[in-house]
Amino acid sequence: MQDSILVTGGAGFIGSNFVLGWMGLSASRVINLDLLTYAGNAENLSLLDGNARHQLVRGDICDAELVGSLLRTHQPRAIVHFAAESHVDRSIVAPEAFLRTNVHGTFVLLEQARRYWSELSEPDQRAFRFLHVSTDEVYGSLGPQDAAFSETTAYAPNSPYAASKAASDHMARAYHHTFGLPVLTTNCSNNYGPFQFPEKLIPLVILNALEWKPLPVYGDGMNVRDWLFVEDHCAAIRAVLERGRAGETYNIGGMSERANIDVVRAICDIVDEMRPQPEGGSRRDLITYVKDRPGHDRRYAIDAAKIARELGWKPAEGFESGLRKTVAWYLEHPGWVERVRTGAYLEWINSNYTERVAL
Ligand code: NAD
Ligand code: DAU
Repeated sequence: MQDSILVTGGAGFIGSNFVLGWMGLSASRVINLDLLTYAGNAENLSLLDGNARHQLVRGDICDAELVGSLLRTHQPRAIVHFAAESHVDRSIVAPEAFLRTNVHGTFVLLEQARRYWSELSEPDQRAFRFLHVSTDEVYGSLGPQDAAFSETTAYAPNSPYAASKAASDHMARAYHHTFGLPVLTTNCSNNYGPFQFPEKLIPLVILNALEWKPLPVYGDGMNVRDWLFVEDHCAAIRAVLERGRAGETYNIGGMSERANIDVVRAICDIVDEMRPQPEGGSRRDLITYVKDRPGHDRRYAIDAAKIARELGWKPAEGFESGLRKTVAWYLEHPGWVERVRTGAYLEWINSNYTERVAL
């Protein structure tokens, strides 16, 4: 094996944050396999232009030949698998791509990894890791008084996205159990931070607030998510990769449960402060309750005791400070924003929000 890792989906939101962080902390090479779908953006990695330790390969995780040849050529010591279709609303409108990438793509990666790994020397086999990045959505929805999701909570995925991620988790588990492939799975709560594609709640609301556009809140706005700053997620993944026990799953959460309406109000207040209107006026007046997401999970919360106990990880960023950093990042990167809000993005915004009339 060489001192390199294969990252999939490393031009997306979490993947690009992970790759940028990894390159600053480690001397190993990164082979970054990304299809550059609407959600992938090579510009996120522009700080690495000319850096010979990073290689972006535009390609599909469903392409077994490509994946096999990357593994044989670069002999990585680990695979960190982020690539996925990740937006719940899109999975409701067009689920097929989710099955293709999240289920079949993960299977292709596991199978190619197994073939590569089975040819390694025994010490290299022991050192190798396949880290499968998954979500808390596989556990379904919590009531207000329910205990947070732990690693032993039964799977109950409710959206096509969540079901596709659950299927991929099961396949990852099976490859460890059946073949001994050193697989680790992480199930994480909602991330936010720089480079998030503005189809997701936090960046969408920041950008709409900045432009004095309506802020669409689904249903009654009381759905709860457990928010985690993306850099904390990346630190957790590094901890699992370095010290996690093969075959185990680790839940990762922000200990920051918030109702959507409170998140949206907090963003309004920060944007008002950072970009005040000379005549006054509050962005809170832009809040518009709209038709709910079908099957909308009510509450997610993560019990991250296992990763804290076994690996010593806990989030470093508080929600309020992380949100301020995130708003500031979007305000400071108007060029990035302008370039991502083009063709495919506008099409999605038009189709998703036109039929979601104000309640
Ligand atoms: P994202 O949509 O921002 O990025 C996904 C990346 O995968 C993109 O760069 C895209 O081009 C790439 N990709 C998609 N299909 C591909 C294919 N067939 N082959 C190769 N590359 C492909 O997603 P994200 O929010 O960064 O999420 C990354 C991972 O983390 C996903 O597996 C997601 O399920 C998981 N996750 C996300 C969150 C969150 O809050 N965003 C929370 C928990 C877990
Ligand atoms: O929990 C982890 C998951 O978090 C990840 O696995 C997913 O990849 C990621 O997209 C995210 O899923 P959510 O559906 O929770 O994220 P989203 O930002 O789409 O929505 C957050 C909440 O805000 C959710 O309750 C729906 C609501 N919402 C969303 C949008 C886009 C609105 O009220 N209005 C909106 O316009």
